[in-house]
Amino acid sequence: MAAPSCRHGTVILGTMEVEEKAEKEEEEEEEGGFAPSALGTREHWDAVYERELRAFRECGDSGEIWFGEESMNRLIKWMEKCKIPLDASVLDIGTGNGMFLVELAKLGYSDITGIDYSPLAIQLSGRIIEKEGLSNIKLQVEDFLNPSPKLSGFHICIDKGTFDAISLNPDGALEKRKQYVKSLFRALQDKGFFLITSCNWTKDELLNEFSEGFEILEELPTPTFTFGGRSGNSVTALVFQKK
Ligand SMILES: C[S@@+](CC[C@H](N)C(=O)[O-])C[C@H]1O[C@@H](n2cnc3c(N)ncnc32)[C@H](O)[C@@H]1O
Repeated sequence: MAAPSCRHGTVILGTMEVEEKAEKEEEEEEEGGFAPSALGTREHWDAVYERELRAFRECGDSGEIWFGEESMNRLIKWMEKCKIPLDASVLDIGTGNGMFLVELAKLGYSDITGIDYSPLAIQLSGRIIEKEGLSNIKLQVEDFLNPSPKLSGFHICIDKGTFDAISLNPDGALEKRKQYVKSLFRALQDKGFFLITSCNWTKDELLNEFSEGFEILEELPTPTFTFGGRSGNSVTALVFQKK
């Protein structure tokens, strides 16, 4: 999988003409967003998972876990600390290769669903889940920005890198971010939890993005880095609760 397009990491830009790109960058930045990137498009993700499916077929490689294994451990630790029951309904938004679902199923969670708008991601996660001999994992091809009505009533919604990807969409990222918040509100039950891990948005920015309908419960500890005498976090992980 390509390296994340993060504020503190490698930035992979699309193939737009330089002038058009500069204009869009200005527009997006005025809207409190980021320069558009291929990482915000479905074509990009289809190409990624086509490659990953091939690698899985050829050598059984499950592909990359976005933000590494520690990003999954951090979420699981929080779920254990809060004694989230094993029958809680969990939705992984933009599940990719579904490795987080695999971890949850191994721990005994029995009502877990992964969605992704890339059918190839859902194919890959299905193959991995089959290889692991796990059942009780629901997988659906769904665009979270245009979700089916049945995508509602979840206790917990997880996002690892998907809001980041959507924020980089070259075609109206601001609207897409607003639609994401609406979809999330519909997907969660009242008082449900939303756990987001992002490498593009700071804590304050995420508080602003999810200010309507959600309140912050806690910030999960993430690794810090120091550069030029200043320190910061390479990723932000927050827990929100639906009001
Ligand atoms: C950065 S990857 C993260 C994958 C996975 N969550 C992980 O942690 O490894 C972003 C994922 O979001 C998916 N995605 C992006 N926009 C989406 C949308 N509108 N609806 C559903 N999935 C989306 C992509 O196909 C991709 O699998």
